[in-house]
Amino acid sequence: MNTRISPSILAADFTRLAEEAAAVADDADLLHVDVMDNHFVPNLTVGLPVVESLVKNARLPLDIHLGVSDPDRWAPGYAEVGAGSVTIHAEATQAPVRTLRAIRAAGAQAGLALSPATPLQPYEGLLDEVDTLLIMTVEPGFGSQKFLDFTLEKVRQARTLIDNVRRFSGREVPLWLQVDGGVNESTIARCAEAGADSFVAGSAVYAGADPGAAVRALRARATEGARSVGARA
Ligand code: DX5
Ligand code: ZN
Repeated sequence: MNTRISPSILAADFTRLAEEAAAVADDADLLHVDVMDNHFVPNLTVGLPVVESLVKNARLPLDIHLGVSDPDRWAPGYAEVGAGSVTIHAEATQAPVRTLRAIRAAGAQAGLALSPATPLQPYEGLLDEVDTLLIMTVEPGFGSQKFLDFTLEKVRQARTLIDNVRRFSGREVPLWLQVDGGVNESTIARCAEAGADSFVAGSAVYAGADPGAAVRALRARATEGARSVGARA
């Protein structure tokens, strides 16, 4: 199984962003940036100017997670400055198809995020429009929150759905199933068992002394979790 690990710089030292990005560049696949506007979530982080600087200086593709109340207005701009992936929240967008298509047209992968209380079913028809389906495993807004176990059921549903889309539509482009929030060495294997293959981790990567080693450890645990499913199948 291919696994993507995306360290969240929300847990990094914001005065040393370039160094914090470099610390995971050899081990991670993406660099997760939480853009928060203090409206969609009760927290305020960074915006386009910081992302633009990171695009120029970080070696990893940027994985932009828009925790903003008007993603239809802002998302295409992040793709235009060179983000690798831009994810919008289902609860915030008024025009998901238009915005997801605008992200792709601007050259980035498009992602759709579902907060913990948001059901998957109303969005099933949108999977053709996305490269990443993000199942939030905490309420968006802050790092270091406790993993919400009940969200794993939605990850399992999403895995079944994605496998069916692949089987019946002949889709060739990857469709990543991402989890974000409370992902650490003890929860990541359960996420992988449930079917996730893309993992955002903030505090589990940046709280310790060696972010690169933390990414390697997370990847090893995710691979074990995915293998245990393969062994049962
Ligand atoms: C929460 C953010 C996460 C956050 C995860 O709203 O979307 O990306 O950084 O942090 P941890 O991994 O510490 O839960
Ligand atoms: Zn995030």
